[in-house]
Amino acid sequence: MLQIKNVHASVEDKVILNGINLEVKAGEVHAIMGPNGAGKSTLASVISGKEEYEMTDGEIILDNEDITELDPEERAHKGVFMSFQYPISIPGVSTTNFIKTAINETRKSKGLEDMPASEMLKMIKEKAELLDIDRKFLSRSLNEGFSGGEKKRNEIFQMAMLEPKLAILDETDSGLDIDALKIVANGVNKLKSNDNAVVVITHYQRLLDYIVPDFVHVLMDGKIVKSGTKELAYELEEKGYDWIKEELVK
Ligand SMILES: Nc1ncnc2c1ncn2[C@@H]1O[C@H](COP(=O)(O)OP(=O)(O)O)[C@@H](O)[C@H]1O
Ligand SMILES: [Mg+2]
Repeated sequence: MLQIKNVHASVEDKVILNGINLEVKAGEVHAIMGPNGAGKSTLASVISGKEEYEMTDGEIILDNEDITELDPEERAHKGVFMSFQYPISIPGVSTTNFIKTAINETRKSKGLEDMPASEMLKMIKEKAELLDIDRKFLSRSLNEGFSGGEKKRNEIFQMAMLEPKLAILDETDSGLDIDALKIVANGVNKLKSNDNAVVVITHYQRLLDYIVPDFVHVLMDGKIVKSGTKELAYELEEKGYDWIKEELVK
C-alpha cells in the first residue's frame, strides 16, 4: 500500500529526514517511536504532503502510484488521512457538517455526486455507535473548546467517516491522558481492516498496551535505526532509547 523510499526532507535548509525507507502493507499497523526531535512528526507531514517540509530526495508510493508531487488535498482524496489535518476551530460549523463537506470534496474529486443526505445520516449514526460517540457531541462547533479527549474523539470520528486507506496518527502531543489514549486505541482497533493500514506515531509505549502493532520502528536522527515486532516496544520501555544508540555504535 505505502512505500517510502529513501526519503530525505529539510526545513529551512536543516536536514531532518536522512533516508527513510518503510513499507506498509494493507491490513498492517505500524508504530513509529523515537526520542523527541527525531523527525517523527516531520515524517508524518511529509507523507501527508505538508508544504513547509521540503522533500529533497526519495519517493512516496501509494498503491503503486507515485504521490510525491501531490498536494495534501490530492493525497487526502486518494485515501491518506492524517490526524489533526484540520486542527482549526470553526465557530458555527459542526463536526458533522465539516465531515460532510470533506466527504463530498473527495467524492467530487472522483467525479461522484454528493452523498445523499439519508446515506450520510445513516453512516454518521453507524460510526458514532461503533465508536461510542454521543451524537450531541457531533453537533458542537468543530474543535471549539474541545478537551484533549474530545479532540481525539473528533479525530477518530473523522477517520471513521473518511474511511482512509492509510491513516497516520501522530500521538506525540503532550497532555494525552489515559482516556484519550484509549479513545485513539479503541478507534484504531475498531477501524482497522484488511483494506487499510495505520501508522501510529508515539513516544508513549503505553499507547501500545492498547494497540498491538504488527511492526515497530525506531526513528532516530532522521533515520529508521531499528525495526521489529511489538517486543521491541517493550524493550524500549525497559531500556530507553540510549540503549539503541549504544548498540549502533558497536
Ligand atoms: N517547521 C520547522 N521549522 C524548523 N525546525 C523544525 C520544524 N519542524 C521540525 N523542526 C525540527 O526538526 C526536528 C525534528 O522535529 P519533529 O519531526 O517534530 O520531531 P519529533 O516529532 O520526532 O519530536 C527537530 O529538531 C525540530 O526542531
Ligand atoms: Mg512530534
